[in-house]
Amino acid sequence: MAAYFDVNMLCLLLLIFSLNFVSSFDDEFEGLQSLPVDHSFQSSPDSAFTRRGNIIIRSFKMNKAHFSPAGQLTPQEKEVLKSAAGRNDFYRIKIPVRPVSSAHEEESHNYVSTFILACQLYESGLSDLLTLNVDQSGEVVGVTMSSTVGQCMDVTMPDDAISNWNTTIEIVQTVAGPLPETQLYIDKLKREEHDKQKGQQGDNRSFFAKYWMYIVPFVIVLMLASNSDPQGGGGGGGR
Ligand SMILES: *[C@@H]1O[C@H](CO)[C@@H](O)[C@H](O)[C@H]1NC(C)=O
Ligand SMILES: *[C@@H]1O[C@H](CO)[C@@H](O)[C@H](O)[C@H]1NC(C)=O
Repeated sequence: MAAYFDVNMLCLLLLIFSLNFVSSFDDEFEGLQSLPVDHSFQSSPDSAFTRRGNIIIRSFKMNKAHFSPAGQLTPQEKEVLKSAAGRNDFYRIKIPVRPVSSAHEEESHNYVSTFILACQLYESGLSDLLTLNVDQSGEVVGVTMSSTVGQCMDVTMPDDAISNWNTTIEIVQTVAGPLPETQLYIDKLKREEHDKQKGQQGDNRSFFAKYWMYIVPFVIVLMLASNSDPQGGGGGGGR
């Protein structure tokens, strides 16, 4: 009987241990998530977006993400980028985000998007930084893009310099502001009230026990005063 009980306990302990393990595992990797990134080399509203690649997110909290390109730029895309850079056009990206109402999950027409000058991307040799802003639940709320080139110098890049993406992904998660700690405050008030009641109940000492430190000096002063009167009169009488 005792052995049976021990085995049960062991199983329970193992179960608790494995549950703990799973939850700490979850904390570290909040699920691999992949976000498609589409891009366009022209700023005209009817220009088509094509797939640039995917952002693979390993962890929001720990800012672990990388860019996985759909491929090298095609010769045609390089040509378009080059000419967009030449006429000071924009390079745009957009990232679909989950619609607020998850009822129409498949037809997600919500995007976050941003743009830089095409020449900035061109002259950086496709080196850019994408910063994703995500809220606390991990939903993307915004994206910004910058390249390693701040100001375009009108340089001509060799074709093989604009073949491969050199993209850095940064994730910035919104931090919750300080919330009023109502429950903690109420708990504190309750605790204080409880302590006060206990204090009042506990302090059922006698009047003298409570106030002796005031009474004793008073009594001493009284005694001294009453002593000095007879001493003055009696002393004279004694002589
Ligand atoms: C890739 O980008 C980084 C900065 O994000 C830059 O320092 C590095 O030189 C780039 N590499 C190439 C091959 O362009
Ligand atoms: C009041 O004092 C007595 C001892 O004099 C004690 O037994 C009792 O618990 C005290 N009451 C409270 C509420 O602490």
